[in-house]
Amino acid sequence: MKIQSGLVIIVFFTAMLTGSISTFAQNKKENIAQPIVRMGSSNTQPFNDEWLFARFGMQADGTSLPEPTGLEKPELNDVSWRKLNLPHDWAIEGPFRIELTGETGKLPYRGIGWYRKHFTIPAEDAGKQIFVDFDGAMAYAQVWLNGSYIGTWPYGYSSFRMDLTPFVKHGQENVIAVRLDTEKWDSRWYPGAGIYRHVWLVKTNPVHVSHWGTYITTPEISDASAQVEMEITVENKGINTLEAEIQTTIFQIDINDKPGAKVSSFNETRITIAAGSNAKVNSLATISNPKRWDIISPNRYLAQTNVFVNGKVVDTYNTPFGIRTLEFNARNGFLLNGRRVEIQGTCNHHDLGALGGAINTSALRRQLSILQEMGCNSLRTSHNPPAPELLELADKMGFLVWDEAFDAWKTGKKKLDYNQIYDEWHEKDLKALVHRDRNHPSVFIWSIGNEVMDQQNVEMTKHLADIMRTEDPTRPVSNGYNDPDNSRAVGSVVHIDIMGVNYFFDQQPKWDADPRYANKPTIGSETASTVTSRGEYFFGTDYKNWQISSYDYAKPGWGCTPDDQFRTNAKYPHLLGEYVWTGFDYLGEPTPYNSDETNLLNFRNDPAKKAELEQKLEEIRKNKAPSRSSYFGIVDLAGFPKDRFYLYQSHWRPDLPMVHILPHWNWPERIDSITPVHVYTSGDEAELFLNGKSLGRKSKTAGKDFRLVWEDVVYQPGELKVISYKNGKEWATNVMKTTGNATQLKLSTDRNKIANNGSEYAFITVRILDKDGLTVPRSHPLLKFEIEGPGEIVVTDNGDATSFVPFKSHEREAFNGMALVIVKAKKGAKGNFKVKALSEGLISGEVTVSTE
Ligand code: GAL
Repeated sequence: MKIQSGLVIIVFFTAMLTGSISTFAQNKKENIAQPIVRMGSSNTQPFNDEWLFARFGMQADGTSLPEPTGLEKPELNDVSWRKLNLPHDWAIEGPFRIELTGETGKLPYRGIGWYRKHFTIPAEDAGKQIFVDFDGAMAYAQVWLNGSYIGTWPYGYSSFRMDLTPFVKHGQENVIAVRLDTEKWDSRWYPGAGIYRHVWLVKTNPVHVSHWGTYITTPEISDASAQVEMEITVENKGINTLEAEIQTTIFQIDINDKPGAKVSSFNETRITIAAGSNAKVNSLATISNPKRWDIISPNRYLAQTNVFVNGKVVDTYNTPFGIRTLEFNARNGFLLNGRRVEIQGTCNHHDLGALGGAINTSALRRQLSILQEMGCNSLRTSHNPPAPELLELADKMGFLVWDEAFDAWKTGKKKLDYNQIYDEWHEKDLKALVHRDRNHPSVFIWSIGNEVMDQQNVEMTKHLADIMRTEDPTRPVSNGYNDPDNSRAVGSVVHIDIMGVNYFFDQQPKWDADPRYANKPTIGSETASTVTSRGEYFFGTDYKNWQISSYDYAKPGWGCTPDDQFRTNAKYPHLLGEYVWTGFDYLGEPTPYNSDETNLLNFRNDPAKKAELEQKLEEIRKNKAPSRSSYFGIVDLAGFPKDRFYLYQSHWRPDLPMVHILPHWNWPERIDSITPVHVYTSGDEAELFLNGKSLGRKSKTAGKDFRLVWEDVVYQPGELKVISYKNGKEWATNVMKTTGNATQLKLSTDRNKIANNGSEYAFITVRILDKDGLTVPRSHPLLKFEIEGPGEIVVTDNGDATSFVPFKSHEREAFNGMALVIVKAKKGAKGNFKVKALSEGLISGEVTVSTE
C-alpha cells in the first residue's frame, strides 16, 4: 500500500540485509553452504588489502606539497608510497593543531589523497564484467584504471560503483588509481578523509542482476501469510539479444547470517533482454506464518536469485530482507507491527571516535550495543548516508533507522558545501541512497535533509521528496526543520509525509489545528543537545577549563535538558518520539567551545539571541579553545557512558530496576559545603542516605519530574546510598563512596576472543582503582600501554574532548579514572596476547585476549 498523506499512513514493506558476499556454487540447489551478509552478486570479494597511498596538497603539519601530474599512470614508480589496507582515514592520525577549527576536530582532514592498487584479473575472467564498488570515499572521488579515466563521485557519503570492464587487462597486472580531494569539502563536523569505507571487487557474467537491482516489498502481511513482491533488473552487456530465466528462492537467515530452511520461492519468470540494455521482471511469493522483523525480534529472510541463460546459471544475487508493518499516525503515533512504539532515538555522526571515519564493524557494533542497553531503539544517520554496516547491524540488532541524505541542498551552510554539486548530483545521490538501502527492514523513514537553508523552498522540497517516493513508495519522507513554524507557514512541509522538528516545539498546538498539518505526524528529529564532560562536576557554573558540568543542565540556546524534552513529549503524546542530539560524542563541533558561525543559523528568527551568540563565538576565537570533539554525547568519545546515559535509561527502560547517583563523592575541598545530589531511577520514589542518615524520601510526578534532586546536601566524605521504590515497593539501590588514593590499574575487555582477520577489535577499559577496588573519580595518571604476544594496539582514548594526544599514542593520561585501549590480533596469528597498562607508583593491570 502506498503512503498517503492522510490521517493514517500505512506502509507495508520488507527489506534486505547486506555484508560480504561469499562465492556460492552457482547451481539450482536450495541449500546454501556459505553465510551471506550483504545484498549483491555472490561473486563479490573484499578489495581492501594492499593499497598504496600518498598525500599531496595540504599536509598534516600545515605545509603544502604540490600534486604532480600523471599519478594515475600504471607505469608510475610508486614503491615509496605508503602501504596500507582499507578502510583508511588519512586525517585521524593528526596531529591535532590548535590553529585548525574545532568544528572539524582540529584535525588536518584537508588534502589531496591518492590511492593506487596493483592487482591481477586472471585470464579465465576474460568476457566477465569487472566492477569496483566503493561504500564511500571522502571526497570528490575520481577513478582511473590502467591510466584510463573511469568516473567520479563527489559526495563522500554516497556508495557508488565503477565499471572497470572496458580497460581491464586479463592475465596481467592492472593498476587502479583513486584521487580524493577534501580541500574543496567544507563540513560542520569532522568528515574524515580517504577511502574510509569498504571497497569490493565484483565479477559477473555479461548477463547479471544490475547494481542494487532488486527491490522487495510486502504489500500484504497477516499472521497467516505475507505476500512478497520482488522487482529484479537484469542487465545484458552481451552482443546478442537473449532470453533469461529468473528463479528466486526464499530462505530464513539467522543472526549470524547463516541461511536456514527454504520457506518459499517466487514464481519463475522469463524475460527477453536486448543486447546492451536491461529489463525488469516482477514476481510474487507467499510466505506462510511469516516471522516478523521487529526491534524485539529482528527476523530476516534471504531471497536468492539465480539468472539462467540456456539452462545455465549466469548470476546468483542475494537479497536479505525482513517483513514488518509500519504505521504513522498523527493521533496515535508510530506503530510497528501494529504495536505502538515510541521513538527513543539518537542522532549520530559517522565517526567512531579514536578510529575516525574508518568504518569498523566491531566498533560500530559496540556503539549500538551501548545505545541499546540505554533503551535507544532508533538511529538517525545525521546528516548523510551511513556506512552499509550500520544498516546491516540495525537489521540484525533491531534498530529503526531514519536514513538521511543531506545537510545542505542548493544553498550551502558553508561555502564549499553540498551546494557546489547539488544541481548535478542530488538526484543521483538520492537514488543511490534509496536503491542501496530500500530493502533493509530497519530503514523506516527517509530524510531529505537537516536544517537546510532551502527548507522553505516549496518546489525544491516537493522535487526531492518526489524522487524518494518514486524510488520507494513504501516509506514516508521527512526533513529536519530548524525553522519549523515558518516552513509550515509557507507550505513546504505539505510536501513531506512526516514533520521533523529540531528543537522548536512551542507552536505545536497551532499546527495540530491547521488543516494542512492536522493529519501530519510530527517527530522530534533533533532534541536536547545537552552538553557535558564525563566525570566533571562544577558548582555555581556549568563551564570551566573547557569542560562542562555533568549535572545535565548545560545546553546551547536552542537546546534543552533531557527532562525538558521528556516534558514536551508528555505534553504532546501524539509525537512519534525523539532523536536526541547525540548518542555518542563525535569529533568536531565542540559546542559551546566551537566558534563555527553556522551555529547562528538556529537563531535566524531571534536577533537578540543571535547577537548574544555572536559575541560568545568571538570570545571562543580569541581564547583559542583547545576543544576538538563534541560534548553532546550521552556517551563519551571513548564509549564510556556519562551520567545522562542513566537519565535516558531510567525513562526509556521503565521496567529495568535501576538507580544512579551523581556526582562522585570525592570532594575533600567541599567538606561542609552544599553539594547537590541527583538521582536517576526508573522507580518513582527514592530515599537518600549520607553515612547512614536519611536525607529524605522524594517522589516524581509523572510527566513532570524525571530526576530526583537533593539540592542541599552538605558534603561529608563517606557513603551516599540511595534506595528507590516503584509503586511503593523497593525497586533498586546504589551506593557512591568516597574512595582512597589510586593504587592499582584494572583492565577489562569487552571480549576475550577475537578473530585474527585484523578487522575485529577488542575494547579494553582501564580503570584507576583504590585499594578497595573502587574507581578513583578525579584521577588522571599517565598510563603506558604494552602488548605481549601476537596482538597490536590500534588506538587509545580517554574521552577528554580537549586532549591533543594523538589517538595512535601508546601513552595517555586517564580522564576521570578511565581510559580505553583498542587492540586487534595480528593477521593470521594464533594464541593469546596480553594487554598491559602501567603507571608510575601504581600496580599495573593486564588482560588476556585469545585469537585463533
Ligand atoms: C543542530 C544541527 C546539528 C548540530 C546540533 C548541535 O541544529 O542540526 O547538526 O549542529 O544543532 O546542537
